[in-house]
Amino acid sequence: MTDLPFDGAISRYFRKDAPKAIRKAIESAGKDDLLTPGYPYAEEMKRKDYDATMGALQRQLVRMQADIKASGKRVIVIFEGRDAAGKGGTIDVMRENLNPRVCNVVALSKPSDREAASWYFQRYVDWLPAAGEMAMFDRSWYNRAMVEHVFGFCTPAQRETFFRQLPEFEHMLVDEGFTLVKLWLEVGRAEQLRRFLAREQDPLKQWKLSPIDIQGLGKWDDYCAAIDETMQRSHFDFAPWTVILSDDKKRARIAAIQTVLRAVDYTGKDDTLIGAPDAAICGGPDLRPK
Ligand code: ADP
Ligand code: AMP
Ligand code: MLT
Repeated sequence: MTDLPFDGAISRYFRKDAPKAIRKAIESAGKDDLLTPGYPYAEEMKRKDYDATMGALQRQLVRMQADIKASGKRVIVIFEGRDAAGKGGTIDVMRENLNPRVCNVVALSKPSDREAASWYFQRYVDWLPAAGEMAMFDRSWYNRAMVEHVFGFCTPAQRETFFRQLPEFEHMLVDEGFTLVKLWLEVGRAEQLRRFLAREQDPLKQWKLSPIDIQGLGKWDDYCAAIDETMQRSHFDFAPWTVILSDDKKRARIAAIQTVLRAVDYTGKDDTLIGAPDAAICGGPDLRPK
């Protein structure tokens, strides 16, 4: 018998509480079928096409890294998205061939008592890249706008302060010379649940499940409202969001890497080879389903 994490709460939710249409979409889908209505593709990208494109992009990432190090650039990439949107996997492929001294991942856990008693942005400032570094944030200061709000971990007043300070904070980063890339990975509801179910069954992936994921199952609509508002209030000219529809992990990873490569000027950059991100799955906040 398997010891299901959290007492099998995901499969129980799937059987008992999930909206019928979501459950049906999952039950009737083939392995490579994409589930979100309106998703521009019916099936996942073929492995052969993915490997060919990804190989070329990986080589460009290595060139970008060399330039960041040599010229002292400071690059911030923020990965945001709902639970299981694909942040972790995208970060993994992006850093696969990179030097952890140059390209490091920042995945902060919930604030300590002292951090909670500090200026909200303070602990993130500690992790900003120095010259010659790229920091990939697996979640970021946007926690206050979304997960903290949905779960009541911050007060409405604290969230308003966040939104008031946010443009100045990000503007200061850009003014200081940081390259700031903000990626929003958008996953559909059925696909998210399918990923949770898979994580529950896979001993290598169970660690990715958390009490937040379980309690978040019934909070889809609260998240929708928090995300909509966040996109409206933080899509700045000087620090815009790139939205990537991530039901297809392969296409999403390619678009994410293309977006980062295009945002940085580096020696050896090959625009033709990088290509334009697929506009069907990668664009501004308007791309998100209504
Ligand atoms: P992840 O999806 O990043 O693996 P979780 O789903 O467990 O992690 O949590 C989502 C986010 O919510 C994390 O960034 C975590 O630090 C944050 N979080 C969890 N509990 C709290 C809390 N009590 N106060 C503030 N933030 C919290
Ligand atoms: P934009 O055209 O919106 O990218 O901004 C043009 C200029 O306006 C910027 O280069 C800044 O000088 C200024 N600016 C925009 N937003 C802010 C902000 N939140 N705080 C301070 N200055 C800002
Ligand atoms: C993701 O897939 O988006 C990340 O791994 C976050 C999570 O564990 O849900």
